[in-house]
Amino acid sequence: MPEFKPPPAALFRREDESADENFYRQPRFATHIDDATIAALTSFYRDFLPPGCDLLDLMSSWISHLPEDISYHRVAGLGMNAEELAANPRLSDYLVHNLNEQPQLPYPPASFDRACIVVSIQYLTQPIEVLTSLRGVLRPGGALCIAMSHRLFPTKAVAAFRQLPPAQRMQLVAGYLHHAGYSDIEFIDHSPPDADPLWLITATV
Ligand SMILES: C[S@@+](CC[C@H](N)C(=O)[O-])C[C@H]1O[C@@H](n2cnc3c(N)ncnc32)[C@H](O)[C@@H]1O
Repeated sequence: MPEFKPPPAALFRREDESADENFYRQPRFATHIDDATIAALTSFYRDFLPPGCDLLDLMSSWISHLPEDISYHRVAGLGMNAEELAANPRLSDYLVHNLNEQPQLPYPPASFDRACIVVSIQYLTQPIEVLTSLRGVLRPGGALCIAMSHRLFPTKAVAAFRQLPPAQRMQLVAGYLHHAGYSDIEFIDHSPPDADPLWLITATV
C-alpha cells in the first residue's frame, strides 16, 4: 500500500449534516447490494469468520449476511435503527449508537475476535477514530473486514465516496486502517459477475 497522508477535512463533509438520528429514524428493511453480491460476501465469511467466534457487526441493520449453517458464540450489532437491529435474527445483542457523534465504541477492550463493516464505511465522518477504537475492542489475533460496493445514500455519504473513483476509495480506506494502527492490510476484489461489485479490505490488529 502506498504511504498515506491524512485526507483533507473537506473529504469528510456531507450534503446532509443534520443529526443522523433523523435520517435513520424510519427502519429500512431493504438489501443494499444484489443477491449475488450478498452470496459472495457470505461465502467469504465462511473462511474469514471462525465458527464459535465473537463477532461485532458494526453499522449493522436487520441482516448480517452470515452463513446460516454456522453458529458464532456472540454476534453483537451496532447501528442507528433499533427496529432493524431487533429484527436481525443473527444478533445476540445490539446497541443503537451514533458513531459520528461518539466514535468511541461502547464495548470493553478485547471483546471480539472479528469485526465487519458492510456497505457503510462511507457514512463515517471520523473513520480513523472509529477504527482506532475498534482495534481496541478486538482481541490480539483479531481481524476486521470492510466490505464495500458502489451504492450509497448520497446525502449522507462523505464527499470522498462521491468524488473519488473506486481505486482511490480503496486506497483511502486502506489509509484509514494504516493510520488506525492495523497490520496486514489486504484488498480482495470478490465481485460476482453481472452484479454489484464486492470490494473487501481486511486487516489484523
Ligand atoms: C447501507 S446500511 C448497511 C447496513 C448493513 N451493514 C447491511 O449490510 O445491510 C448503512 C448502515 O450504517 C449505519 N449507520 C449509518 N450512520 C451511522 C452512524 N452515524 N453511527 C452508527 N451507524 C451508522 C445504519 O444504521 C445502517 O444500518
